[in-house]
Amino acid sequence: MMLSYTGQTDAVGEFAVAVGDGLRKLNQRELPSAYLYDELGTALFEAITLLPEYGLTRAEERLLRRHAGDMLRRLPPPVAVVELGSGSGRKTRWILEALAARESVAYFPIDISAAALIKCHQELAHIGALSIVGLESSYLEGLQEAAIRRRPNQALLVLFLGSTIGNFHPPAAEKFLQDIRRNLRPGDALLLGVDVKKAIHDMVLAYDDPAGVTAAFNLNLLSRINRELGGDFVLRHFEHHIRYQEINCRIEMHLRSTRRQTVSIREADFTCTFREGETIWTEACRKFRVEEIPGIARRTGFLCEAQWVDTEWAFAENLLIAD
Ligand code: AVJ
Repeated sequence: MMLSYTGQTDAVGEFAVAVGDGLRKLNQRELPSAYLYDELGTALFEAITLLPEYGLTRAEERLLRRHAGDMLRRLPPPVAVVELGSGSGRKTRWILEALAARESVAYFPIDISAAALIKCHQELAHIGALSIVGLESSYLEGLQEAAIRRRPNQALLVLFLGSTIGNFHPPAAEKFLQDIRRNLRPGDALLLGVDVKKAIHDMVLAYDDPAGVTAAFNLNLLSRINRELGGDFVLRHFEHHIRYQEINCRIEMHLRSTRRQTVSIREADFTCTFREGETIWTEACRKFRVEEIPGIARRTGFLCEAQWVDTEWAFAENLLIAD
């Protein structure tokens, strides 16, 4: 595999600024969810995908396994595949295998984690007729790079799987899809995976598993701040806390301070006191209705060509074509 680095240079500085800005928000302190995925966080997320309560990943894998052929029939060759946030590459395999059976494929996985790109390569190396160029960078920088490297006659198929779009606040989600569209040509495609609204109990349990894996994933953000920014969070004095917010149709993941306590973060030049019960909001996971996707597509420069919904766990795979 070729690995190409197009990332920023002062990663620690950016992390420190983001942490300071988020924790200074007094109505509701926040930390950006992107920082959950350091090497340990990525491994913990992989474990989450194996939890019986977390149905998303298995549902999406079923959809891709069953319908890859149908999805690809709608995209005439030649096609180059770009994936935003490749993770382990396990689900992508089904698309790439189906595509490699009809043409030789260029695949550009984009991830901020070099470790994820290496795992992804290992998972997919067995597929013949596949060349992998890993891009270690942010989604949009990577997409821009892949768009430059495609051959002139190739259409791009962008994969944005796992309901990661649900982590964005609604206006930011549509802005992000527009930013993707700006890097595409008419006829290029975006395969967008979204988790669908279901019984509250099932949605909450997926993020509040009894084995505590999601709690460890969440708390790791504080230990990452301790490790990388010289923080002194005492992890035992925070607990994992999940809420479902009906009006915004989203699961919220928080860390709740179990007592009044003061925390300092050296690299962020930051000290603050948490009240007992005060929370830090670490992630939003929006749940969609299948019927709202065509409107989102239209507002962001796409047409919703087809949708596939899993029957065991409500999750939708949406094929959007750039207009
Ligand atoms: C990978 C962002 C889609 O929102 O379901 C899983 C992350 N957080 N459990 C999600 C996550 C807690 C996941 N995404």
